[in-house]
Formats: sequence, C-alpha cells, structure tokens
Amino acid sequence: MRPLPPILIVDDEPNMRATIEEALRPEGYSVMGAASAELALEVLADREILLMVTDARLGGMSGYELLREARQRWPAVPVVVITAYATPKLAVEAIRGGAFDYLAKPFAPEELLHLVARCAERYRLVRENHALRSKSDQSVALDQLIGESPKMRELKLLIQTVAPTQATVLILGESGTGKELIAACLHSLSRRAAAPYVRINCASIPENLLESELFGHEKGAFTGAIRQKSGRVEDADGGTVFLDEIGDMSRPLQAKLLRFLEDGSFTRVGGNDELRVDVRVVAATNRDIVGLIRDGAFREDLFHRLNVVQFRPPPLRERTEDIPRLAEHFLGHYCLSLGRPRLRLGKDTQQALLRHRWPGNVRELRNAIERAVILETGSEVHASSLPDFTVEARLAPAAEPLSDRPLEEALSEFERRLIQAALERHRNIGRTAEALGISRHALRYRMQRLGMLAEGVPEDEPVSTGTRSTN
Ligand SMILES: Nc1ncnc2c1ncn2[C@@H]1O[C@H](COP(=O)(O)OP(=O)(O)OP(=O)(O)O)[C@@H](O)[C@H]1O
Ligand SMILES: [Mg+2]
Repeated sequence: MRPLPPILIVDDEPNMRATIEEALRPEGYSVMGAASAELALEVLADREILLMVTDARLGGMSGYELLREARQRWPAVPVVVITAYATPKLAVEAIRGGAFDYLAKPFAPEELLHLVARCAERYRLVRENHALRSKSDQSVALDQLIGESPKMRELKLLIQTVAPTQATVLILGESGTGKELIAACLHSLSRRAAAPYVRINCASIPENLLESELFGHEKGAFTGAIRQKSGRVEDADGGTVFLDEIGDMSRPLQAKLLRFLEDGSFTRVGGNDELRVDVRVVAATNRDIVGLIRDGAFREDLFHRLNVVQFRPPPLRERTEDIPRLAEHFLGHYCLSLGRPRLRLGKDTQQALLRHRWPGNVRELRNAIERAVILETGSEVHASSLPDFTVEARLAPAAEPLSDRPLEEALSEFERRLIQAALERHRNIGRTAEALGISRHALRYRMQRLGMLAEGVPEDEPVSTGTRSTN
C-alpha cells in the first residue's frame, strides 16, 4: 500500500508540536510542523497533506482564519482545530467554519489518534475510489465506441491522440452517428477527466436564454432575473464544455462565443466584470455547417476557431461491417437490462440489418434491437420483430430537409422510393400495382421511365429488388 501523506501540525509553541508528534509517530504516521498559519499555507500549497491539526490561537493569523482559508483553497484537506478552553461556543465556531472535528485542551493522545485514524480511512477510500474510477474511465470510454471497421479504428485512434491535448474539437456527422459519445470520450480520456463535463444543447434552449445559460446573468439583467446566476461555463471550470447542436446558435451569441474561445473571458448578461475560466470546448452539429456559413447563418471565423481538430463519425451505411457487432452489443445490453435470457440473431434478421440503409444510423439500430428484444418471445430474433424498414425508407425523404432541387427530379426520386418499397413488400408486379392503385401496365411504364426495369421482364415474373438498373 502506498504511504499516507504527512499530517501537518500548526502551533506556535514548539513543545506542543513535539508532544503531538510523539503521539503520532509511533503509530506510523509521518508528521510535519509549522510554527504559524502563514507557514502552514505554504506547506499546503506545496504538497499533499493527510490532515491539518491547528491550534485555535496562533501568533499572527489565527487558527480560525487558517481554517477558513484552507477550506476555500484545499477543500479536500480535513482540518482539526485545538481549542484552548473547552467552551461549546468555540467548538461550534470551528465546526461551522468547516473543521472536520475539534479537540479541547487538554486531550488524551488516544482522542487525537482516533481522529487521525478516521481521516486516514477516509483518505484511503477516496483515493481507491478515484483510482478505480480513472482506471475504468480509461477503458470504458473507448470500449463504448463499438466498431472495428477501418473508419472506426481511425476515429478511435484520433480520439486517443487528441483527447489529452487542449485542442478545440468540432464533430460533424449525421444524426445518431455517435457525436455525443465521442465528446464524452474526449473528456474522460483527457487530463480534465476528474473535473466537470458540462453539456449544453444549443437547440433545446430558447435563443434568448442560451446566453445566460452559458455565461450567467446579474440580478435584474432582464425580467425574471431575480438573482444573480453563474453560467454553465463557470460550472465547467477546469473541465470540458460540450456545445451540442452548435449550428443552431444565434449569430450574436456566436460573436460572444468567439471571444470566449480566444482567451476564456466572458461577461455575465447585464454585468460589466470580465470573468475568466479554463475550459476546453468541444462542439458538434448534424447540420450542414458549410451551407450554414454560405447562407450567413454561421460565422466563418467561429467555424475556423472551433475547427482546430475535426471529427467526422461515418454514417452506418458506410461501415456496414460494423452492423453485426453493434447489433450484438445492443442485443446483449437490452437482454440484460430487460431481464431476458440472451437472444440470438436469426440469419434472416442479420440479412435484413445488413440491407437497410439506416438513415438514423446507430441510434436507429439501437432502437430496432430494443424493440425486437421486447417483442420476441422465443430464443431468436426473427426479421418479423424488426421495424418495417420499407415504411421507414418511405418516411426518410420526408425527414430530410427539403433543399432546393428541380421539382421533377425530386418527384421522380420519391416515386422511385415508393415503388421500390412496395415491390420489396409484395415481390410481384401484379400485387404491387394493386397496392399502389394503378394498373400493371401503368406501373411497368413508370418503372421503365424511372430506370427501374430491365427490358423484357415478363409480366408476373417475381421482381428482384436488390439491384436497380441504371439508365
Ligand atoms: N460507435 C458506437 N458504439 C456504440 N454505441 C453508439 C455508437 N455510436 C452511437 N452509439 C449510440 O447511439 C445513440 C446515438 O448516439 P449519439 O447520441 O452520440 O448520436 P449523435 O451523433 O449525437 O446524434 P444527434 O445528431 O441526433 O444528436 C446513443 O445511444 C449512442 O450511445
Ligand atoms: Mg447528439
């Protein structure tokens, strides 16, 4: 076991320091002495201390003042105050001031030893807990990112390389590709891991409140600001701020963020004082940031400031080899959390998962597996327990932002997807035509026009939907 840090004894009487030392050393504790509060503060600033035992009365700065100062600057160090005369009032004052405990003179050495033992135990607990946490954070962080495709390996390598640096990071990727997960990994693999990680969703907070959420406000800054409030960036001091959905931030606030990124300085809403914190910023968006810049909705200078390191988690359809692994991962997770025995993925299910385009990426896959675990009663997940992907494929274009494109082209695309989805379900031209409410002839004509039909397919031949002829 690692040795404990020393105990600091603060007393202006050398005899008293010697007496306490004599009580502690035989028990294996190491002891340091300081003849004044001022000297004690120097020791505290310099090294780790198990606990500080201080006399209430010292020449110069008093024991109570020392207590107050130490509590503020080193809140983790317990302080024991020795009061000269056992008056309840002084004891109360010491405890109120944040003392771990007090000893009234004269005290038996056992009383002191008992107190020290309590502190030592607490210290070991905290240290073990911390070591455990930081160790598991290390591995848990990257383990959570499932995927061994070359693109994912590259991404994980980049996370490991960039996490320990101070670099600002911009994560760009479609919805559900794991941007939030990456941001969390960057924090827990950084040297800031023990400090706070604060996530702010710029899209879910009303525009006029976002600034005060980020930077805080002074009392009376606006209607409803009944008291002063510190900003979330202050909560995150020493740690990481994750600005999610940064593409939705208003232009005026973008200007303030830019200034904040330059040197960590900011002003609360309605305030004059310039405040400063030390945070690392990670930002993400699933919007087309270049388009936003072109349209004047996003400041180009802010983009460059954020874009020191860029992450682009690939969409799931570009790394289909990760689908089985991800599916198994979520299967294990949901079977466990729903208290089900471990299910297997049927062959047809695996095929269906591989064929789907996953517009909602990993989130969509996760939801599909959760649903299947709930629905499935046997020991295997059948394709019938998966969502109707053909319906989703039809919904997908509507969910995409409607951008400027020729009407004819957009309508053809929609028509093609609709027919494709119906074909996948009915697998034969006659039934598909019936389902779409048109004649076979009309369907064939349209398919031909849309380049979906090779020449010379006989009427009720089952249709292969896997490939599409292009012309
Ligand atoms: N590589 C991955 N391994 C395991 N789980 C993942 C992975 N990528 C994403 N997930 C999971 O998928 C879900 C969605 O991920 P996340 O919230 O990070 O997406 P996002 O990119 O932030 O999406 P959005 O743009 O919609 O906010 C989460 O439950 C996340 O844990
Ligand atoms: Mg997200």
